[in-house]
Amino acid sequence: MNEEEIKRKIEALKKEINYHNYCYYVLDSPEIPDAEYDRLFRELKKLEEENPHLITPDSPTQRVGAAPLEEFNRIRHLTRLFSLDDAFSEGEVLEFDQRIRKGLGKNVEFTYVAEPKIDGLAVNLLYENGIFVSGATRGDGEVGEDITQNLKTIRSLTLHMLDSDIPHPSRIEIRGEVYISKEDFIKLNDERIAAGEPIFANPRNAAAGSLRQLDPKITASRSLNIYLYGMGLCEGIEFLNHYDFLQTIKKWGFRVNPEIKICHKIEDVLEYFKYIENKRNELEYEIDGVVVKVNEFELQRLLGEKTRAPRWALAIKFKPEEALTIVEDITVQVGRTGILTPVAKLTPVNVGGVEISRATLHNLDEIRRKDIRIGDTVTVRRAGDVIPEVVSAIKSKRTGKEKIFEMPTACPVCGAHIIREGAYFRCTSISCPAQIKEGIKHFASRGAMDIEGLGDKLVDQLVEKEIVKDLADIYFLKADKLANLERMGKKSAENLIKAIERSKRCQLSRFIYALGIKLVGEYTAKLLADNFHSIENLKKKTEEELLEIDGIGPEVASSIVNFFKEEENLRVIEKMFSAGLVIEKTEAKKGRKFEGKSFVFTGALKSFTREEAKRIVEAEGGKASSSVSKKTDYVVAGEDAGSKLDKAKELGVTIISEDEFIEMINK
Ligand code: IVH
Repeated sequence: MNEEEIKRKIEALKKEINYHNYCYYVLDSPEIPDAEYDRLFRELKKLEEENPHLITPDSPTQRVGAAPLEEFNRIRHLTRLFSLDDAFSEGEVLEFDQRIRKGLGKNVEFTYVAEPKIDGLAVNLLYENGIFVSGATRGDGEVGEDITQNLKTIRSLTLHMLDSDIPHPSRIEIRGEVYISKEDFIKLNDERIAAGEPIFANPRNAAAGSLRQLDPKITASRSLNIYLYGMGLCEGIEFLNHYDFLQTIKKWGFRVNPEIKICHKIEDVLEYFKYIENKRNELEYEIDGVVVKVNEFELQRLLGEKTRAPRWALAIKFKPEEALTIVEDITVQVGRTGILTPVAKLTPVNVGGVEISRATLHNLDEIRRKDIRIGDTVTVRRAGDVIPEVVSAIKSKRTGKEKIFEMPTACPVCGAHIIREGAYFRCTSISCPAQIKEGIKHFASRGAMDIEGLGDKLVDQLVEKEIVKDLADIYFLKADKLANLERMGKKSAENLIKAIERSKRCQLSRFIYALGIKLVGEYTAKLLADNFHSIENLKKKTEEELLEIDGIGPEVASSIVNFFKEEENLRVIEKMFSAGLVIEKTEAKKGRKFEGKSFVFTGALKSFTREEAKRIVEAEGGKASSSVSKKTDYVVAGEDAGSKLDKAKELGVTIISEDEFIEMINK
């Protein structure tokens, strides 16, 4: 290809990728499979790598990868970003309508546009001839921070407007709200808790914190999204009204909220407000009210602005979702995986129409960071359908009688040992009533003891009726007692008893896995069985001894030791043996599986990271290397395997799939 052809090819690829990006992220309905998208993307990337002078800032390859900044530059908006006046009651909304009518004169006809008020961060984007040039935070309304690189990481934001019947303006400022969905907000905070980092108080702070990162890679990892709702400067094309503007930018590939409606009179706006208020919990993002705007741009200009806010728009806010109350006590809840969560018992208070008497405190680190004490007056917040939480303590209200909370040293449900893992505290007993249902379900599952007929509903009944209080009780079940349970007949009860009997003879690895020791999956259980040959032997091992095994890391080792430290766990294991459980003698260890064999992994693996796969191979005596040669025994090809796969074919090396690799491990 000559330069001109390459240029045309790059342009065509950019356009195509841009369109599919729009289908995927804006319309939520991809037209082509992901693999095809990736192929286009790789083709573009390759051409750009070979011709770096042809890379343009609006290329889809330029979304991530920009270097971290020292600080944000400032950008002067071309037109001012206004704020909004708030209304909290129907009366205030009607007054707004009266003011508009008075301002415009009796005979002027107009419409309103009503929109959800998204609780995120306002941004101002500049496009020149359809291409994204820069983006900034609102700042003081006149000057904001240049967050162009971070905005580019938002996949649903078009870097190059799509073509439509309406030509792109030579310059336009488009405004919108960057937000994080409720689901991603919870996920992000969970990850932060696990990493021992402070959590974000609400989705708005999470969005703002993610967007104001000096390193765009962090922003890219935060699944931000954007809705566009406003226009600043616009040159080269004219719009008659706001609604038309929204419809047009939608055609240009921008994300516009589907809930936006035209209202013909103020009563319709009030109705819309009720409709949105009812729908609030269903929406995937947090909102704090509704914005109503006079639709016609000419009339907006006529009404004009005050210092802070325009006269032609109003924010109608939901009732405040925060309230003050007192922390009467802090109790601890044990989750079904054994994690202890501190919960504040509150003097009941009405928050946004719902009475709240409990609120989560997340974990001990959070309590310490916010310095919340028993007896404190606190702000509680209910954010849509997110669980109510304690936001902060009002320290000026302290009397000196407040008590500092300490985490219990024994499980509040069963009294077993508590261990600390990072920010988490966890109960170590397999009989803890908080965890027992999950424990039994896992014990009976296919990869574990494989007890057919011991399904989830039955487990729930057995535990609720206190027929099974620990795992060993399963081996004392009697058919006649089972037959009396809901949805159980004589026949199925007898079959279940037979299945339980059958499971009494089992392999050591399955038994270890069935115990549900945290971080011990099927593979680790097998490693333990192969190395220690009996429970008796395994339970005496120290962390140091466990760490000697290839494939066992410090966290796993500590989890195993803690499990066998708990007397209740030892008692239950004993009780199972006394009920007749027998571990089948495993054949003497047959030498390691992959002794002398060399593996190369290529493409994306579903079940392992590269590092894990490598450890598994090494633990079995094999070698994992990164390049294919004639000496390679197996190439494990994951998804989208590339040049290594071609090389393997060329050299005639055996190629296996990830599933075949897993079969080899489990053999
Ligand atoms: S219009 C002059 N529309 O609310 C018009 N704002 O309190 C100014 N917001 O800074 C904004 N959703 O961050 C408008 N559909 C929407 C909005 C919205 C959220 C935010 C925006 C603004 C703040 C004003």
